[in-house]
Amino acid sequence: MPLIKLVGGTLGKATTFFALFIVIVGVVLKCFDDPEPEHLGRMTSDMKTLEENFRQNNKSCFVLGASGETGKVLLQELQQRNIFSKITLIGRRQLNFEGKAFENLVQEVVDFEKLEDYAAAFQGHDVGYCCLGTTRAKAGTQGFIRVDHDYVLKSAELAKAGGCTQFHLESSRGADKSSNFLYLKVKGQVEADIQALDFDRYSVYRPGVLLVDRQESRPGEWLARQFFSAVSAVVSTSMSIPIQTVAKAMVSNTVLQPQHKFEILENKAISTLGKSDTK
Ligand SMILES: NC(=O)c1ccc[n+]([C@@H]2O[C@H](COP(=O)([O-])OP(=O)(O)OC[C@H]3O[C@@H](n4cnc5c(N)ncnc54)[C@H](OP(=O)(O)O)[C@@H]3O)[C@@H](O)[C@H]2O)c1
Repeated sequence: MPLIKLVGGTLGKATTFFALFIVIVGVVLKCFDDPEPEHLGRMTSDMKTLEENFRQNNKSCFVLGASGETGKVLLQELQQRNIFSKITLIGRRQLNFEGKAFENLVQEVVDFEKLEDYAAAFQGHDVGYCCLGTTRAKAGTQGFIRVDHDYVLKSAELAKAGGCTQFHLESSRGADKSSNFLYLKVKGQVEADIQALDFDRYSVYRPGVLLVDRQESRPGEWLARQFFSAVSAVVSTSMSIPIQTVAKAMVSNTVLQPQHKFEILENKAISTLGKSDTK
């Protein structure tokens, strides 16, 4: 048999096997999916009116992590929906924006190692969004804890002291302060520590793998993303989510009036909210 035919046949079988594998994994994951949060679908039915009512109150917000993948899209969403009279970006470096849409943005450049010295940057905001985070590969174990726990908690404390009443934290699926995995433990710990600050409203978002074309090289995350992109093309599961959906959900949720002052939105709930009609 010619070599080309043999290779072609083997590749064809491998592709069929892989496609079958993806379908089976998708169906299995679907069985373990989070339950459908029906109440969110109902609550979002009149998003336009809710947004209009919220807009009338001339509220201001700040965003931590606006230079990151979710933060960038969150900022675009906030600008498009125009529900705040002022948006402040708090970060470690000045960002360059061009165009009229960015004229009303305020930027505060802070040293996260000396956040106490920048308390003024956190004063006078009604709502805070946090999409800050790093990885152990990038910052080492202590660096990761410093950013994902210490910086986030200190920012929330300063915001609360400065009059902020709503805090929205992008955490992670599986966050659990008792976990044996450092990543999930740190995420769970910071969630709990911020809860103790007792904001009038505190929402935690726990997305699965973020589906995004990241510029930065993160091989482990890239592999997970390829895998979950393939699975989600077959069947939508709670294991992954596009960043646009997360950003949309964070903004939509801001204008809703939840029953409880503290809420955790798992991947499925984020997905439902993020797909609500905002046009
Ligand atoms: N990747 C995933 O699949 C996944 C899944 C679930 C949850 N999450 C969580 O979702 C959140 C957002 O993720 P993402 O991928 O959108 O974030 P990202 O693209 O990695 O952006 C992170 C943001 O944090 C800032 N930051 C990082 N290290 C910092 C430091 N030492 N000092 C000050 N600022 C620092 C970055 O600022 P610079 O631009 O200046 O570096 C950037 O604005 C993170 O908390 C992450 O853990 C991620």
